[in-house]
Amino acid sequence: MYLDNTHETMPRADLELLQLERLRETLRVAQNSPFYRERLQQAGVAPENIRRHADISRIPFTYKEDLRSQGQALLARPLSEMVRLHASSGTTGQATVIYYTREDIETWAELVARSMYMTGLRPGDVFQNMMGYGLFTGGLGFHYGAERLGALTIPVGAGNSQRQVQLMQQFCTTAVHIIPSYALYLLTTFEHLGVDPRDLPLRLAFIGAEPHTEDVRRRIEEAYGLKAFNSYGLSELNGPGVAFECPEQNGMHVWEDHFLLEVIDPQTLEPAAPGEVGEVVLTNLSRRGMPILRYRTRDLASVVPGSCPCGRSHRRLSRIQGRTDDMLIVKGVNIFPMQIERVLMAMPEVETNYLVELTRENFNDLMCVKVEVQQEFFQEDLKYLKSLQKKITAALKSELLVTPRVELVEPQTLPRSEGKALRVVDRR
Ligand code: COA
Ligand code: AMP
Ligand code: ZN
Repeated sequence: MYLDNTHETMPRADLELLQLERLRETLRVAQNSPFYRERLQQAGVAPENIRRHADISRIPFTYKEDLRSQGQALLARPLSEMVRLHASSGTTGQATVIYYTREDIETWAELVARSMYMTGLRPGDVFQNMMGYGLFTGGLGFHYGAERLGALTIPVGAGNSQRQVQLMQQFCTTAVHIIPSYALYLLTTFEHLGVDPRDLPLRLAFIGAEPHTEDVRRRIEEAYGLKAFNSYGLSELNGPGVAFECPEQNGMHVWEDHFLLEVIDPQTLEPAAPGEVGEVVLTNLSRRGMPILRYRTRDLASVVPGSCPCGRSHRRLSRIQGRTDDMLIVKGVNIFPMQIERVLMAMPEVETNYLVELTRENFNDLMCVKVEVQQEFFQEDLKYLKSLQKKITAALKSELLVTPRVELVEPQTLPRSEGKALRVVDRR
């Protein structure tokens, strides 16, 4: 039932002592990075100052902006000791890049293995990973975890729906890692191929990377005839394997021996009580190459009150209920409206006004970008406008990693509001 009995069921008092010990060690490691050496010095925080949990609030927060602007200044070990990097959202110098040592990759794999084992995955299972490989953490993160656990791993990656179904049939897949909206969309492919997913030996699904409701989980479970478990993680803290649902399916256990969890009121910065929604703040407790302290995730959630009948002592996080910033998640890809704006504003043919509309068609995310074209260009012939539309689509796809539908419109036709225009309408 437990992959790591000692740590998963550790009594709270012992777990909290272990956290303090690991936090002090993490601070020692972090002091090797130019960024944290200065930050911690400015805040007057040294490892020996952290004696009890209340002392944690003395450590300064880390923001996505710090990762973007400081880059390799956050490395606590020489670059030559890093064996992998992953990056999240954006390609124009704005991506947040995370570096891992060999030891970090092993710890991460162990946590993902622990998470999947908790739900019942075992050696002998056939695991099909339908998340994006490459720079996304969902692909390789789960891949290493599943191999470590000993499941037969199919590294198919995202997309190519017919092939996904064929692979499931051919290799008798028992477990999948899939984005929840795509799991619902994939049902149309099953239907098209005349295959009933319930006839396959599928029994487990790991779903995450985007917010979803209990209703969506139930629909996936019923349509596929399996149990679906919510999986939460973010690149800044490793990737998947930060928090995961147990068989109780009532909140995600945060692996508190490796991550320090805080939920705070984003305005007052005071801790939120169990059950109260606030911003999730996380600290690495075991990463060596690039530890991150008190990371403001911008994700809103609450701690599930009480203890879990599964016997694990690690606190549970509710579903993610929203964000405190304007980040959008489209087809499992994080997008900041600023990225869209930068691409559009670099094009002389377009006006300053544009509108992003997000809808869901047959469970598939659709991003429509309406762009006002300068009058002189709008008067050009249809062929010209078609090629301009193609050029904008390609530029946006290259930056965002998802393909938008671009509509060119006449100048002064999109709604404007006083001051800042209303740029994004999310109808999903
Ligand atoms: N996951 C997996 N596949 C998806 C998907 C999703 N969320 N959304 C769409 N797809 C499939 C489509 O069905 C299509 O395959 P098909 O035509 O065989 O059915 C294929 O991917 C391309 O779809 P399209 O809508 O043209 O994609 P795009 O160019 O806008 O985006 C993706 C390309 C889907 C590959 C990209 O959005 C992606 O990699 N998403 C997954 C991100 C991820 O893994 N996130 C986890 C982060 S940890
Ligand atoms: P990335 O850094 O690309 O892995 O993206 C991490 C972000 O994806 C998180 O900060 C969340 O906003 C979102 N996310 C990841 N897992 C979930 C989940 N299970 N439910 C809701 N949102 C999620
Ligand atoms: Zn539990």
